[in-house]
Amino acid sequence: MGILDVEIVKKYIRMCTDGWDQGWHERNGGNLTYRMKAEEVEECRPFFREPGEWVNMGVTGANLAGEYFLTTGSGKYFRNVEPDPEHSIGIVEINDKGDAWRIVWGLEGGAKPTSEFPSHFMNHSVRVAATNGECRVIYHAHPANVIALTYVLPLTARDFTRALWKSATECPVVFPGGVGVVPWMVPGGADIALATSELMKEYDAAVWAHHGLFCSGPDFDITFGLMHTIEKAAQICVLALSAGQGNIRQTISDDNLRAIAKEFGVTLNENFLD
Ligand code: 13P
Ligand code: ZN
Repeated sequence: MGILDVEIVKKYIRMCTDGWDQGWHERNGGNLTYRMKAEEVEECRPFFREPGEWVNMGVTGANLAGEYFLTTGSGKYFRNVEPDPEHSIGIVEINDKGDAWRIVWGLEGGAKPTSEFPSHFMNHSVRVAATNGECRVIYHAHPANVIALTYVLPLTARDFTRALWKSATECPVVFPGGVGVVPWMVPGGADIALATSELMKEYDAAVWAHHGLFCSGPDFDITFGLMHTIEKAAQICVLALSAGQGNIRQTISDDNLRAIAKEFGVTLNENFLD
């Protein structure tokens, strides 16, 4: 029995492989973090090493003090997570102020958590608060069709949400709150982390213009499913716009959206309905 036999670590690795299989993680693109449950930390603790130095994050999430996160490494390839987990992923502990991490397992050979750890961390912080502690997963990927839409749609939550809701009937059920949109920003630091987490107070997904998508959720299935649903809707939108040369002959109406919401018992974000 090693740490790679622990159920949550196996599920985390499987999600990385699934993302790679979808084509969302060219080279080192994308990153995944998971906020571990106390009992999962205890299952893994026998395999922890002498902790590394505390490293300040440049952002603070006081409600995440003392938490442990599984994280992908900066510059590491999703393609390599399954064959070489020890060098590709790791576990970090957060200090009692909620502003620094230290490595307790993995990220062998001097690797560090993803460069987007500040964004993940701040998103965890606001989603934990918004969901009464339910949110555990933050997932960033580079799905091509979502990115393509950031070149042709206005960069607003309303435009993206409406385009996606109307691209596949299940969409309003899967993300009734809609998606946020962050304008183009330099990735990998505190500024984009704060801008994204501001939107994540309201949305469980946020598009990064000309870059990718962030999704959040309580577990791997729901979070991967959200990424998959949004990207598939974006693909349908791109296909329909391309095939129709920009002309959409018919679509799902706002009244249709309201009817779906009623039938499935979800509350749509009214700001995005006409
Ligand atoms: P990392 O390799 O540091 O995780 O960065 C990849 C990425 O997608 C940056 O936005
Ligand atoms: Zn990225």
